[in-house]
Amino acid sequence: MPNSQFDQRTAELISSLTESGQLKPFYDITSPMRPIVNIAGKGEVLVLCANNYLGLADHPEVVEAGIQGLRDYGAGTASVRFICGTLDCHRRLEEKIASFVGTPSSLSYVSCWNANEALFPTLVGPDDAVLSDALNHASIIDGMRLMAKSVNKKIFPHSDLAQLESLLQETQNHPTRWVITDGVFSMEGDVAQLPEIVALCRQYDAMLVVDDSHGVGVLGKGGRGTHEHFDLFGQIDVMTGTLGKALGGAAGGYIAASESAIRVLEQRARPSLFSNALPATVAYSAHKAMEVIENDPSIVARLHSNVAAFRTGLADLGFDCTPSPTAIIPIMIGDEAEAIRKSARLFELGVLAIGFAFPVVPRGEARIRVQVSAALTDDHVQQAMDAFAQL
Ligand SMILES: Cc1ncc(COP(=O)(O)O)c(C=O)c1O
Repeated sequence: MPNSQFDQRTAELISSLTESGQLKPFYDITSPMRPIVNIAGKGEVLVLCANNYLGLADHPEVVEAGIQGLRDYGAGTASVRFICGTLDCHRRLEEKIASFVGTPSSLSYVSCWNANEALFPTLVGPDDAVLSDALNHASIIDGMRLMAKSVNKKIFPHSDLAQLESLLQETQNHPTRWVITDGVFSMEGDVAQLPEIVALCRQYDAMLVVDDSHGVGVLGKGGRGTHEHFDLFGQIDVMTGTLGKALGGAAGGYIAASESAIRVLEQRARPSLFSNALPATVAYSAHKAMEVIENDPSIVARLHSNVAAFRTGLADLGFDCTPSPTAIIPIMIGDEAEAIRKSARLFELGVLAIGFAFPVVPRGEARIRVQVSAALTDDHVQQAMDAFAQL
């Protein structure tokens, strides 16, 4: 039975977003994700907003591996892991992830969102305390909402180490304290101050969790992530990350941690117990993506040089880009409608760079988020700069 109040409410929201210029456009892409894609009704555009940091989404070896996964195991497991959904390619993938990010073990999920929802309610004890950076990703925030009500949850201002230390002091009576931070902050493009955070966690005997979804494949000479960038490889207790960005771009996520943490997650985490396993095609393609990076780290170097070219080029054009080694460059606009208008203008100029507005970022902090890829050639970089110069 249709519900007229509900219909009215949804129609009002959509029309108010339309009238205020805040309605997000959805473009239909009719080609694989790569620097130049075809958009239905528009034609070719240069993509500057995919998480395809290493250009592996259409890499021939990654695509071929996915096809092989489909041939070897069919469309999917038709089961969760503990019933009959664990394939040997899951185990191989998980060994690869653990060695790639530097932990003893790992467990895959159908997304990093799922991984973050698995982690907190399962590993955090009811009397523990969790200290979380204010700008952590939405999946961390939602994952924390699933913890026992008795957990002492504290949010510290973004990258404020003095506040973090005082919270560590305040929570000394809890059996385990957890500090959780993004490695690379997805909306700001800045990097967590890991050396200081690791030191604080050691000093106060706290567990450190780093979500490195935008760091893995991107930071460090070998693309292993934020900890490699800071020479802290192997020193993070728990890492979560996605396979849906630099590592092939399909989907999937992981928790990488100690053997015992992973065993507990296998036994107790609700997304592990009640949701299907990662499709084999994704397990194969993500595995291959890590092999491609290991065999040819020059793609990571190419990403780093493209990032430097973008940051310098945009700064020379007068855009305010804070220095950072990451591939995320937010161009702050402020007003929601203005950010969407500017993004539409870039689109007219043949560049896809989406405007981010509420609720993705706080009200009044709308921005265009530029994301750099190793797959961009010098000509693409020039094309981008020409468009931004016109903007
Ligand atoms: C920091 C962070 N964590 C988790 C996720 C979720 O990743 P997935 O797409 O695999 O669910 C994202 C995706 O945007 C992210 O930026």
